[in-house]
Amino acid sequence: MTASALSAWMPWTDRAGRTSLLKLATLLALLAPAVWMVVEWRMGWLSPKPVTDLVRESGDWAMRILVLSLAVTPLRYVARFNRAILVRRMVGLAALFYTLLHVALWCVDLRFEWLRIAMELVLRLFLTVGLVATLLMVALGVTSNDWGIRKLGSAGWNRLHAWVYVATLLSLIHYFMEVRLDASEAALMCGLFVLLMSFREIRKRATPGFVNLMLAAVICSVGTGLIEALYYKLATSVAVWRVLMANFDVSYRVSPALWVLGAGLAVAVLANLRARFGPKPARMVRA
Ligand code: HEM
Repeated sequence: MTASALSAWMPWTDRAGRTSLLKLATLLALLAPAVWMVVEWRMGWLSPKPVTDLVRESGDWAMRILVLSLAVTPLRYVARFNRAILVRRMVGLAALFYTLLHVALWCVDLRFEWLRIAMELVLRLFLTVGLVATLLMVALGVTSNDWGIRKLGSAGWNRLHAWVYVATLLSLIHYFMEVRLDASEAALMCGLFVLLMSFREIRKRATPGFVNLMLAAVICSVGTGLIEALYYKLATSVAVWRVLMANFDVSYRVSPALWVLGAGLAVAVLANLRARFGPKPARMVRA
């Protein structure tokens, strides 16, 4: 393999083998949590159960990056940020990387007692759900390359990769089933997922105009508040209205519903600005 062919394979280069600053910056940002986890572990900054801490931390990052991977395509179309296509595969593979790290650390935590690991995966529903999500993500990761597209054909590949939404939904269920006291981040991830799905629907059915996007932001924000309230109602029997009212009290935290509203409104404003002053809408091209 020649040096130029090799450089085209590097994660920070584009198809022509040129270094892409966007890809390089994304790669470094995606690696940062893993580096931080190593630092925390080496410096002894974790609790007396460091592996358990790292299982949680890697799970959190897997979830965040999985949701981020779903934001790439809407951002590309809604905000007309065509170059986002360059990092779509990288973000998806990073979600898979943190998921596999999460599962591997869990196996370390159980000291590789394979029988116990198998029993837990079968008997504890939240782990079974996580396992199915992981298997789906592995199938998507293995086929997220030119070989996968050639083998499955464009339509088959698109059909298979639409399963990312099912994998995300299952991951969110796994997350909610595991939450003990504070469901804020799980609710936030859920709200962002619903917001991204709504952008997808808007793009399919209508022009992603300012009013449509604003409406989606408001509806998804209310939905996020309701999901959080419902969770607390089922898990702790705290009254739904008390959790809903807490969404308006920003004195001790910005609620997941307000974060979702902020993110949705930011995209609406960005889309409006890009529609006025930005480039033409994206065409379908592969990374
Ligand atoms: C075979 C597959 C999986 C296994 C065995 C597994 C195992 C676990 C375990 C044992 C916990 C609880 C940690 C604790 O509180 O002590 C956990 C939490 C979690 N997992 Fe998984 N998981 C799997 C798949 C996934 C996937 C696919 C995702 C998302 C992409 C994910 C995201 C999370 C998150 C966000 C948490 C909560 C972390 C926290 O409490 O801060 N997991 N998982």
